[in-house]
Amino acid sequence: MNICCIGAGYVGGPTMAVIADKCPDHVITVVDVNEARIAAWNSSQLPVYEPGLEEIVFNCRGRNLFFSSKVDETIARSEMIFVSVNTPTKTYGLGAGKAADLKFVELCARRIADSAGGPKIVVEKSTLPVRTAQSLKRVLHANSNGHQFQVLSNPEFLAEGTAIRDLLEPDRVLIGSDDTPEALSARDKLVDVYSRWVPRQKIVTSNIWSSELSKLVNNAFLAQRISSINAISALCEVTGANVDEVADAIGRDSRIGPKFLRASVGFGGSCFQKDLLNLVYLCEHYGLAEPAEYWNGVIRLNDWQKRRVVQRMIAAMFNTLAEKRIAILGFAFKKDTNDTRESPAAYVCRDLIQEEARLAVYDPRVSPGAILTDLQQLTGLQKEDLASRVSIERDAYSALDGAHGLAVLTEWDEFARLDFRRVIDSMRKPAFAFDGRNILPHEELRSIGFELHAVGR
Ligand code: UDX
Ligand code: UDX
Repeated sequence: MNICCIGAGYVGGPTMAVIADKCPDHVITVVDVNEARIAAWNSSQLPVYEPGLEEIVFNCRGRNLFFSSKVDETIARSEMIFVSVNTPTKTYGLGAGKAADLKFVELCARRIADSAGGPKIVVEKSTLPVRTAQSLKRVLHANSNGHQFQVLSNPEFLAEGTAIRDLLEPDRVLIGSDDTPEALSARDKLVDVYSRWVPRQKIVTSNIWSSELSKLVNNAFLAQRISSINAISALCEVTGANVDEVADAIGRDSRIGPKFLRASVGFGGSCFQKDLLNLVYLCEHYGLAEPAEYWNGVIRLNDWQKRRVVQRMIAAMFNTLAEKRIAILGFAFKKDTNDTRESPAAYVCRDLIQEEARLAVYDPRVSPGAILTDLQQLTGLQKEDLASRVSIERDAYSALDGAHGLAVLTEWDEFARLDFRRVIDSMRKPAFAFDGRNILPHEELRSIGFELHAVGR
């Protein structure tokens, strides 16, 4: 079968690479309107960093995995089309700041209808508000030229940094469809694709609305656990309890479980906040004020946690950060990715710049250009003004050289393995360390003279 995926991003690229790897008899073409991105997928420097991704892409590319800018041609020859374009939070008009912006999804539907030339199975991969499939179907059918379209919902649950493992060994694959014979037959074709490597009992089918809603709810529940433990981290700091010990104790209750209980500088990423906002908007739309307020609280707590880190730094460093050099260790929203979307590190940096600190930023995977673009957008500063406040460093030691304080904002493994004697020798005294991810060897740091502040301790 010929399969097309529209959107060569963090979701579309890795997902299609794994399908190509596991289904050598299917031909998968990933298309994107962004030609530079397609060129990068066709080069030796892939636009997305994920452990294990290169091996799979290099193995399948040119065999049964292709990256192309020829959107219409690819749609025309494909039987199944995944829609994996971005659905950012709307920044304008009705629902601005909350609702998902579906303009790209609608554009895709119109393009599929225009170029189809035959029946198609359209698979929603992008995270979408409940009942989007209905809109997709209407756009497709209104422009169908007599062709049949089946719309399926197949939300992606991969997490960045572990995308390949999550795709190879998913907890479940969810496929939502209508229950007409044609829709069920389309659903079975997609089940066949996944069942090449996913045990059949892990492929869950449901009605299309449940599938769409499950993705939002899944992310909302995960984010809610982080805001819950972060709320407790503040209480730990004032009571002398240790949040990691509390998380360990409660995580051993099998009803709670140990995962997603790591207190942090706050959650980031392209999904959690966007999906929570989307859920809040849906609740409000249906007149459910209390559920809307409940889920909105998860976001408010996360914003508060990001601000709290900076407030602690100011208080510890004699109530002023002006002209002090702060080494920022990590800028990605989590380790093992080069993605900075909604990274808590960016918000912390913005607030530090507002305090007139000087930042020396190092991240092992994020490009200097991406860091500066994000900070420019968040601070509203001109390039030159930003350059006078922020330097991007080639490694952790150069960022730390001459710094008054360090802040770990992403949990990259290499930060825990630094030579801290060398580090403290190169820093101003007293040397402050703020561990926003609780990954540093705290006892060692204290014993060699750091004033250490960690989350929830
Ligand atoms: C995106 C959404 O953020 C997520 O909610 C959804 O579940 C899957 O798609 P991601 O892959 O991380 O996730 O987004 P991104 O890396 O921005 O990739 C989207 C790609 O779609 C971009 O490369 C963009 O150029 C492309 N695109 C967008 C099109 O090809 N056509 C369009 O009309 C719009
Ligand atoms: C998330 C979901 O996990 C995934 O299923 C969905 O498909 C997309 O959204 P992602 O955003 O890529 O994935 O990463 P995730 O591992 O969920 O981390 C999100 C944020 O939460 C990161 O900033 C991370 O550092 C933070 N986090 C995670 C914590 O602060 N504490 C934790 O215990 C776990």
